[in-house]
Formats: sequence, C-alpha cells, structure tokens
Amino acid sequence: MPVRRYTRTARWLHWLVALAVIATVPAGLVMVGEDISRGLQDSLFIFHKNLGVIILILVVVRLAWRALHPAPPLPDSVPRLQRRIALATHWLLYAALLFMTLTGYIRVTAGGFPLEMLDALGIPPLAPRSDPLAEAAKTAHFYGRFALIGLVALHVAAAAYHGLIRRDGVFGRIWPPLGR
Ligand code: HEM
Repeated sequence: MPVRRYTRTARWLHWLVALAVIATVPAGLVMVGEDISRGLQDSLFIFHKNLGVIILILVVVRLAWRALHPAPPLPDSVPRLQRRIALATHWLLYAALLFMTLTGYIRVTAGGFPLEMLDALGIPPLAPRSDPLAEAAKTAHFYGRFALIGLVALHVAAAAYHGLIRRDGVFGRIWPPLGR
C-alpha cells in the first residue's frame, strides 16, 4: 500500500517553520554576544523578534490545520516504539516552539521594549510591564533553547535515518513542500 502523505498545506507550513527556526536560532545566539557592533546587534534583534512572532503565528496556524487534518498514519514497517517516540517528539516540538516564542514575546513586552511588527499593526502588548516577569521570561527563553535544539537534532536525525538509510517513504510524507 502506498505511504500516505501530509496535505500540501501541512508540508509547506512545516518547511516554512523549519527555515524560520534555522534562521532565528543563530541570530538569537549572535545578537547576545559581546564582540558585536551595535548596528548589527540592533538589526539582529529586530530580525529575531519579528521572525519569532511570525513563527508563533505559523505554529498556531499549523496546530489549527492539524486539528482539522490529522496526521496520516505511519507505514506498518515502522516499529511501535519508534511510532511512540515520533509522536512524542512532534508534540514536544510544538510545545518547545510555543514556549520559545511566548517567553520571547513576554521578555520583550514585559520589559517595555518595542516589537516593531506588532507595534506597526497597532497591536498592544498583552503582557503587563514588569521587570521581574521580563527577567523570568528571559531565563526561560535562555534555557528553553537547549530543549528546542535537542528536539530539532533528534527530529533531523530521524528524518535522515528514514530518508537516507531506511528509504521507507516516511520522509516523502513531508517532502517536497509543494506539488501534489
Ligand atoms: C522559535 C522561536 C525562537 C527561538 C528558537 C529563539 C531562540 C533564541 C536564542 C537561542 C537566544 C539566545 C539566548 C541567549 O543566549 O541568551 C534568544 C534570545 C532572545 N530572544 Fe529569542 N527565540 C525565539 C523567539 C523569540 C521571540 C518571538 C522573541 C520576541 C518577540 C524573542 C526575543 C528574544 C530576545 C529579546 C532575546 C535576548 C534575550 C536577552 O538576553 O535579553 N525570541 N532567542
């Protein structure tokens, strides 16, 4: 039986979020470094914060889409334990993305800093102005990256295993982003 694939919308949303996360993590790491010019730091902050907000919106859209279009079942060749690990990893990835975007959002808005894209749209900060809250969100954002990076590494390793070693059609469920 042919392996069932994700819908085209689910596939391009997946790759859009993947690209955005790949871009925002290095920007986040470089912008908090010490040996960096003020101009570059400001640009990276603007890029990181605003791309992060876009990721938050995309993740919410993905979750809504997924609620309406459940993930297709994995092929029977995938052992039970691997299915469970895959399912857990996928939900933890959603949780980690929400955690990182929300803590980033709170860190900025509770700290009283601008969030250019939302400010331009006239969307007011949803978090109250509070330095202790901003500090707590900053710490959570700092440590949350380890969970997110670990989960992404596991996810990419599993994708490479299926796509390059097993060649069992699992990677083709999510690739290519466009096309039928
Ligand atoms: C998937 C989304 C996101 C990821 C993966 C991410 C990742 C990171 C990483 C790795 C750092 C460096 C942490 C450090 O070494 O101190 C960082 C810092 C930061 N991020 Fe994010 N971030 C995301 C979303 C956001 C969002 C949505 C905002 C704000 C709207 C934001 C605002 C910030 C700020 C202000 C810092 C600097 C923290 C500080 O030292 O004050 N991030 N982020």
